[in-house]
Order: sequence, then C-alpha cells, then structure tokens
Amino acid sequence: GGGGDAGASGDTGGDDLIRVGFSQLGAESGWRTANTESVKESLTEENGFDLTFVDAQQKQENQIRALRDFVAQDVDVIAFSPVIETGWDEVLQEIQDSGIPVVLVDRTVETDVEDPFVTWIGADFEQEGRTAGEWVAENAPDAKVFELQGTLGSGAQVDREEGFNEVVGEQVIGRASGNFTRAEGRTAVEGALQAYPEMNLIFTHNDDMGLGAIEAIEAAGKVPGEDIQIVSVDGVRDGLQALVDKKFNYVVECNPVFGDQLAELITQVANGDDVPETTVVEDASFDQTITQADVDARAY
Ligand code: AHR
Repeated sequence: GGGGDAGASGDTGGDDLIRVGFSQLGAESGWRTANTESVKESLTEENGFDLTFVDAQQKQENQIRALRDFVAQDVDVIAFSPVIETGWDEVLQEIQDSGIPVVLVDRTVETDVEDPFVTWIGADFEQEGRTAGEWVAENAPDAKVFELQGTLGSGAQVDREEGFNEVVGEQVIGRASGNFTRAEGRTAVEGALQAYPEMNLIFTHNDDMGLGAIEAIEAAGKVPGEDIQIVSVDGVRDGLQALVDKKFNYVVECNPVFGDQLAELITQVANGDDVPETTVVEDASFDQTITQADVDARAY
C-alpha cells in the first residue's frame, strides 16, 4: 500500500485551508482594482485560504446572489464590501441563521439585523470628507463648490458628503453623482458646467470621477486646477499624477492596500478568536508639493 500517501507530501494544505467567500462590489475605479489585487494577493492558498472571489459589477442583486451562494457552499467565513448601505436585512439574516461569520470590508451597512458582522475593516470616510473640507476652508474659502458624489447611498458617498459639508457645506452650490467611474464623472461635470457656470471648485468623492472631470473641463476650454480647482479622494497613481501635473489641487488618501490585515482578521475569525469590532486603515493626504518620484514609487 502506501500509494494513498502521495497527497500528503503535496503543499496544498488540504482540509486546513480557510474557505472564504468574498463578494467584491465591482471594478469601478483604480482604487477598487488595487483593493481587489491586495485581497487576492493576501488570501492565497499558500497563506492558508481557499478563496472564492465574485465581482458584483456594482449591482446589489449580484452581491446578494453571491452571498446566498456562499451560504449554500457553507464557506467558513463570508467577507463582502457592500455597494450601498441599505437593503441587506434579509440576506444578512439568512447568513446569521447559517452560523457563518461575516467580515465587512471597506464600505458599511445599515441594517435591523442585530450583530450583522463580526468585524469591519476600512477607512474613515467621514474624516476623509472633513479633511477635504478643511483644505477648501483654508485655501479656497470663497470658492463656489460643485460636489461630485460617488454611488448614491454607498457608505463612501454618504459619509464623505457628511464630513465635507460639516466643514464647508455653505460653499456647495450643486451636486450630482458620477457613480465612482471616470465616464460618469465626466458626464456629470459636463452637466454641471452648464448648470453652474460660476462653479470654480469641484470636490470629487474619488480620483476616477475627478479624472473624468478634467476631460470635461478641458473640453469646455477651461483649465483644471486653475479655472476650476479639484479636490479629490483616493490617491491612486493617476490621481497623484494629476496632482503633479497641477490639474488636481489636493488629494485625501483612501488606502486600498489592506489585504494582509484582512487575511489576519479572517484567520482570527475562523479560529473563533476575539477581534476588534473595527479596524481603521491609515490615510495620508497630498498637495501639489508631491513629486514625480513620489508618484512613480506608488504601488498602485
Ligand atoms: O469605497 C471606497 C471607494 O470606492 C473609493 O474611494 C472609490 O474609488 C471606490 O469606488
């Protein structure tokens, strides 16, 4: 005998792998792509995970379907980044009834379900909005601001808007959503240029929409960063490049590279260890003193 031992010498880890279902909300932005890469690089078989990754393409119904599949597969841990805050009650209750622990990633939920998740990891969106607002209050106190909102009803949109408006809400003359994408950001700013000819500063909830705004502003014969200043959130490479090129004026970072911390949390949750209820990812912020070398050294 002994033939059956062959598998034991393999390095797949066999039954010891933690089975994780991860529902990513989409691939709408540079931030999201970097976040997905970070998650996939950390939740590898080598690190002890058997990952099922599903991209919901910014559609809640796709996410709900993926979550139900994870319950049916009886994974060890469900992780997900919810596209919007509300509408999860039913599926969260189903998950809870199944006994599978939930790790919430990046965005947040609003639900009637009690203790809907074990732990959440992400950025402080409200503080990001406040930091952006403080820059405006200090550097452009008379600016007429157009707010380019992310996906309406998402934690990132709701909280950034709240933080920003807490500081300089009186300066905001108009708002529209660009759904966190470059194309829709461009369209929203094309409309804003018509509707609010006096606007001279855009606060955009992410870099991608801000890059779309640059296209719209230039197409209208105006100079981004001068005629219309741009204050953004994320700090992906293209966004920081726009800062070096003086088309963006200020960028509040939202760091997407927390796969390692997530992997650690998931391991603890799978083992039934105590975990903190929240883990806030550290953010920086950048102005036009950033150099090309800084941008080139950026990992994403
Ligand atoms: O939830 C985080 C936000 O989602 C990022 O700031 C944005 O780029 C992404 O689409």
